[in-house]
Amino acid sequence: MSTVRFILALTAMSVAMSQELPDGEGKELLEERCAGCHSLKPVVSLQQGQDAWKRLVVQMVGYGAQLNAKEIDVVTGYLSSHFKGSATAATPDTPEEKIAKRYIQGICSSCHEAEVILSTRATKQEWLDIVTRMNGMDAGVSQRDVELLVNYLATKYGRK
Ligand code: HEC
Ligand code: HEC
Repeated sequence: MSTVRFILALTAMSVAMSQELPDGEGKELLEERCAGCHSLKPVVSLQQGQDAWKRLVVQMVGYGAQLNAKEIDVVTGYLSSHFKGSATAATPDTPEEKIAKRYIQGICSSCHEAEVILSTRATKQEWLDIVTRMNGMDAGVSQRDVELLVNYLATKYGRK
């Protein structure tokens, strides 16, 4: 590739990236602290109210994102002003969702990055096959919870 074309390609890339995230207080924090486990794609494709964003950011801190209380507010403020959704209160997780999330965070994420799951789109049967295969590698999802986890994954990361 010629130097000029290389530079053009780089410019196009950075334009595409900066288009994804609008400027504002919290943008850098987000880029620094939120892109370690997965890309920012799931972030920019969500639109929701402030309560829901706060809950998500706190959840990510539980997963290991490095943010103190003030930074949580800054990131939440940035997200809820740029990726707005309806202001309806966040619906709390159902008990099933809580269990599924615990598996994803505690077990699935011990072997590979969250991106592996976030970037997969699969039908319920395919998720069942994946979870069964992961269990073959000692993921250890109890038989009782396989269906619950598969339902969660197929709903959230189903084929579009
Ligand atoms: C330590 C690893 C880690 C870090 C750091 C992290 N995440 Fe996540 N993130 C995850 C995992 C694991 C999931 C999948 C959780 C699930 O589906 O229950 C996820 C899922 C998500 C999703 C999709 C969830 C949904 O409900 O659609 C969004 C959006 C997200 N993260 C945003 C963020 C933001 C914002 C930050 C920074 C505050 C962040 N993440 C930092 C691990 C991380
Ligand atoms: C003991 C380590 C380990 C655990 C625990 C684990 N995985 Fe995996 N996972 C792997 C390896 C290794 C691969 C890549 C090789 C493969 O696909 O067989 C993989 C690949 C994947 C893929 C890529 C898609 C595909 O069809 O291969 C997905 C999605 C996935 N895992 C989801 C999960 C989920 C969901 C869990 C939690 C129930 C989980 N993994 C737990 C080791 C693990």
